[in-house]
Amino acid sequence: MKGKVTVITGVSNGIGRAIALNLRNHGCKVVGISRSQPDIELDLWVCADITIGADRERIRTEVEKCFGRVDLLVNNAGKGLYATWEELDEAELRSLFELNFFAVAALTREFLPLLKNSQGTIANISSVAGKIWIPCMGAYCASKSSVSMFSNSLRLELKKYSVKVLEVCPGQINTGFSSRSMGMRKPPDSPGRSAGPEALAEAFYRAWKRGKSALVYPGWMNWAVATVRGVFPWFYNHYSLKVWNLED
Ligand SMILES: NC(=O)c1ccc[n+]([C@@H]2O[C@H](COP(=O)([O-])OP(=O)(O)OC[C@H]3O[C@@H](n4cnc5c(N)ncnc54)[C@H](OP(=O)(O)O)[C@@H]3O)[C@@H](O)[C@H]2O)c1
Repeated sequence: MKGKVTVITGVSNGIGRAIALNLRNHGCKVVGISRSQPDIELDLWVCADITIGADRERIRTEVEKCFGRVDLLVNNAGKGLYATWEELDEAELRSLFELNFFAVAALTREFLPLLKNSQGTIANISSVAGKIWIPCMGAYCASKSSVSMFSNSLRLELKKYSVKVLEVCPGQINTGFSSRSMGMRKPPDSPGRSAGPEALAEAFYRAWKRGKSALVYPGWMNWAVATVRGVFPWFYNHYSLKVWNLED
């Protein structure tokens, strides 16, 4: 994968930062996008807000000018929202979808011609929360479910161009994500259950290298999601009401 040109959104913190560092260690050229300056070395950093159309166009023209190609686009930048549907603020709901979904779809469309030329890969960072309903996180779940549906339908549409689409669904990753989230609620404590972003970044690299179409991380969450959805939804619902303080 040495010399491959990769573009990653949200490199100033957390998962995006870890993926950028890891890809660079594996010899890739890394273009990072964020609004604040990252504290890591990159081949190119573009200061941009991906929810703004003109910024997305500028990202693509700068990448084209500097490298002339793109082999991997990682749509990672995103944020959370903790509130019940009744509590949540309409403006926050719209801004959540603007970043988590509309910017992802628009940036992908911006890079499609380059990705078709290189027969490259689009990696969308969705979430396990896009596969399962979580009370007080319903808006976030819906935004990530949209990312997953976008990824899985796009994969079929791009097959004839040999462009691959990788849907990445992390579980809880230790990045401080919830402290930067919108909404009036805070998630319940779940000590010791977070994985580090570095291990996810290496799993991501391996999934990309092998041309996989999906990565759930940590892997045991695949089993947990299937169990909750298929076998024990009543147990999960009961447990959720308790941990989110929603009991009568
Ligand atoms: N952490 C978790 O437990 C977890 C679990 C599952 C899925 N995820 C998903 O993984 C992704 C990364 O999460 P994280 O925990 O690493 O989040 P994070 O630590 O809060 O980092 C978010 C990154 O996105 C960038 N960003 C935010 N708004 C942006 C905008 N408008 N334009 C450009 N960049 C923007 C931020 O940079 P600036 O503020 O400098 O722009 C930052 O670099 C998100 O999509 C999240 O939903 C996270």
